[in-house]
Amino acid sequence: MIAIHPSILSADFANLATELGRVPSADAVHVDVMDNHFVPNLTLGLPVVQAIRRATDLPLDVHLMIEDADRWAPGYAEAGCESVTFHAEAAARPAQLARTLRQAGARPAMAVKPGTELKPLLPVFAELDMVLIMTVEPGFGGQSFMDEMLPKIAAARRAADDLGGRIAVQVDGGISAETIQRAAEAGADTFVAGSAVYDAEDPDAAVAQLRGLIT
Ligand code: DX5
Ligand code: ZN
Repeated sequence: MIAIHPSILSADFANLATELGRVPSADAVHVDVMDNHFVPNLTLGLPVVQAIRRATDLPLDVHLMIEDADRWAPGYAEAGCESVTFHAEAAARPAQLARTLRQAGARPAMAVKPGTELKPLLPVFAELDMVLIMTVEPGFGGQSFMDEMLPKIAAARRAADDLGGRIAVQVDGGISAETIQRAAEAGADTFVAGSAVYDAEDPDAAVAQLRGLIT
């Protein structure tokens, strides 16, 4: 199933409740948590995610770009986020963490940076509901889609299909009307879009446009 997740990283952080209301047709809202250690940028943490949870009925897809995910990720599941994505590079025991997140009521997901190989991580897939293939270096919105990630998206798709197609394949970074078809053809089904949605005059129309390009 195709899903479009606007990233509020490109929204107005001083008016988050209003910004959340501008994307009613989104399948979920993508929330980028950054700790200034795992990535060279700092955004928001658990108290703000809890406030966002109260401010919208849309599912929350939280993307944790933080160190020591084993320690911090479960709190986001307990806060009622529908999916919690940790980075493979920041988790000491990813399979165990995925199980913990599921027990806490969230869909567990694992992200990989552009330079991280998928193959050694394939054994973790059985514990996941989603894998996130980063198509930019994490940390900032508005970067260009890395076409060289297309084979990795295809490899993730094959691994997901091998497990019965239960796992979603998400892409994040540089997704726009120009790039979404390439990512979809490679096998992605869940698309994060920050600047392409929130830089548009009508963010919900941008969501519909992106969706229309692949369905
Ligand atoms: C970047 C974040 C993305 C970001 C994408 O590290 O993970 O979610 O918001 O922004 P765009 O869609 O503008 O590339
Ligand atoms: Zn993200």
